[in-house]
Amino acid sequence: MNNNQVSLDTLVSLAKRRGFVFQASEIYGGLAGFWDYGPYGVELANNIKASWWHFFVRQQRDIVGIDGAIIQNPKLWKASGHVEGFNDPLVEDLKTHKRYRADHLAGVDTSDLEQLTDLLKNKKSPDGNELGPVRLFNMMFKTHVGVLEGEDNVVYLRPETAGAIFSNYKNVLDTARVKIPFGIAQIGKAFRNEISPRDFIFRVRELEQMEIEYFTNPADAQKHLERLKKLYWQWLIELGLKTERMEWRQLPPESRAHYSADNWDVEYKYFDGKPKELGGIANRTNYDLTRHAQLSGKDLSYFDETTRERFIPYVIEPTIGVDRVLLAILESAYHEEEVNGETRVVLKIAPEIAPVRVAILPLSKKSELSALSGEVYKKLVQETHWNIEYDETQSIGKRYRRQDEIGTPYCVTIDFESLQDHAVTIRHRDTMEQNRVQIKNLKSELSM
Ligand code: GLY
Repeated sequence: MNNNQVSLDTLVSLAKRRGFVFQASEIYGGLAGFWDYGPYGVELANNIKASWWHFFVRQQRDIVGIDGAIIQNPKLWKASGHVEGFNDPLVEDLKTHKRYRADHLAGVDTSDLEQLTDLLKNKKSPDGNELGPVRLFNMMFKTHVGVLEGEDNVVYLRPETAGAIFSNYKNVLDTARVKIPFGIAQIGKAFRNEISPRDFIFRVRELEQMEIEYFTNPADAQKHLERLKKLYWQWLIELGLKTERMEWRQLPPESRAHYSADNWDVEYKYFDGKPKELGGIANRTNYDLTRHAQLSGKDLSYFDETTRERFIPYVIEPTIGVDRVLLAILESAYHEEEVNGETRVVLKIAPEIAPVRVAILPLSKKSELSALSGEVYKKLVQETHWNIEYDETQSIGKRYRRQDEIGTPYCVTIDFESLQDHAVTIRHRDTMEQNRVQIKNLKSELSM
């Protein structure tokens, strides 16, 4: 079976059973909208992030990286408009007091209060009760710095990583030998107090973003938006996502974030086959730098030596969530196949990002085999820096099945003949074909 019909329940159960994703604080009943990555989930997430960083930072001469603090001076979020405008429309069931996203209940993509009030006029809650008025709800998590808790020392957990990029724009310009056009990239956690977190790791309250703010002459902004869109598509395909499940969609004005003049979402058809936002690319104009210049009193304009113009740069922002990419990879990779009358579950994840690149599987626990297998394991890890798993428990069939389910592209079995011929067997995940190779050639065979 191809993965066209894979349900969310199937993915959640595989993710839990095989140690990709656990509910946060599960032993205490969990906490809605928060998830923990297990041993294979963290490897996959780290590989996604490393691939993104390599593609967008190291391979692009005009993009550099930073890593900003999660908590910033709250003025930064006033300048960015998040204190005023980072709101979701909320409506409450007057009997159960459960809160719902008004736009979701109304089945529209807008936060226009009048329109939502009108649409929900005669509607009941999902439990069949009266609904209260539609209100706006700010999604930033608040906390306090220092020992006193008061309005004066309120700070926010960042709702997007972009903030520290804007506040460091001048620092990077002055230190990194970059000239407009150039980009600053960052990977990090962001926090949103979603009214109704749902769909596993799709809509969460703590997420991880990979964002670029690309600073450009206003005249060139749309050109860079188109160029970065193409780069993004290329990266998503390299990750192994299915093109037939992805498409770009231009957002209408009422669905765009408060700062955005043009916005495209790359949508992915997840478990239910409906397109959902995987990532986006926005033209934020000079909104952010203008606001930060106003509130900080610093001059953030740029003088272009070539064109002899002074301007506040426009910003093109490609942004994508690690968690959503990870879910799309699981969905794209999931296959069920009939093998000898049994169902084989296999994750066909691209080898470069698979949580375990190679599994070393001695055919017996006898000490001679363990010694040789241990040496092969150690040498391969040292030579490659891959995540390699060593497993000598259970029957070989069960071990293959487990490696298939976590997406390990290569299993290396070591048998008693290996002691004589210094060769091992490579078993390929996708074809299940096997070939014998000399131990000394293992790294090059597995690198192909
Ligand atoms: N910075 C864009 C976003 O958080 O979606």
